Amino acid sequence: MKFLELLNHIGLIAAHRGARCLAPENTLIALKKSVGRCDFIEIDVQFSRDGVAVVMHDDTLQRTTNVAKIDSFVSKKPYRVCDFTIDELRELDYGSWFYKDENHKEPLLTLCDALEFIKEKSLLLNIEIKDISAVFSDEEVVDTVVKEIKKSDASESILLSSFRHEYLKIIKEKVPNILTAALVEGKHSDSLLEYLRELKVNGYNLNNESVDKQTVEMLREAGFFVSVYTVNDSARAKELFSMGVNCIFSDSLNKNLKVDSL
Ligand code: G3P
Ligand code: MG
Repeated sequence: MKFLELLNHIGLIAAHRGARCLAPENTLIALKKSVGRCDFIEIDVQFSRDGVAVVMHDDTLQRTTNVAKIDSFVSKKPYRVCDFTIDELRELDYGSWFYKDENHKEPLLTLCDALEFIKEKSLLLNIEIKDISAVFSDEEVVDTVVKEIKKSDASESILLSSFRHEYLKIIKEKVPNILTAALVEGKHSDSLLEYLRELKVNGYNLNNESVDKQTVEMLREAGFFVSVYTVNDSARAKELFSMGVNCIFSDSLNKNLKVDSL
């Protein structure tokens, strides 16, 4: 199924950073564990110092790698992802922090690896592009991500989202057919529909605390799909779906989140 077709449905579950309840977030094993437990997978993408798109949430490596244990990297504190080359990032372990076992390692996941995996398994992937505008130009970010997607021949299986809406605008100029969603946290734009139409996005992804029925209805009627992050509670999931929310991003991937009839 193409992504847009899927997003017309209500009651969808996206695996937030992969199945991050079951495996280290944003790793290949987290993607593998999501299969069969969600409707699509969400990952976060940013760049290494030399401009390779890598899958990682935080802007530093402290929480989700063993970087602090490697003496030769001490000079790179506070361990910003964008200060490490791709070769240096490959030296790190992305698993032991999660398993609490130094011997249980996981490798770096690049965007290229993630795309290869979803293409091979015929899955759908939401790539959230982190705001890396302090270091990389918007054009460079979009060009790199789009190039990877085109190379993988998986455009119809991709949804691109970002809190940095400039990226979304450029994406639609360059590849109008690719799906995009504006990520927001907190207050909605005053003239929300007009704003989203200007961005030419397909969807609106908002935080759980900012959802209200009226806004969801207005967006759905105007043809935008609506997704909410991060929802791990089944009662709340049901409530959101009954408002017309299409999708929730969840860490728990609990079967109870699924709603059979609405
Ligand atoms: O894309 C939804 C969600 O992932 C946004 O928040 O901080 O978990 O990337 P964050
Ligand atoms: Mg994310």
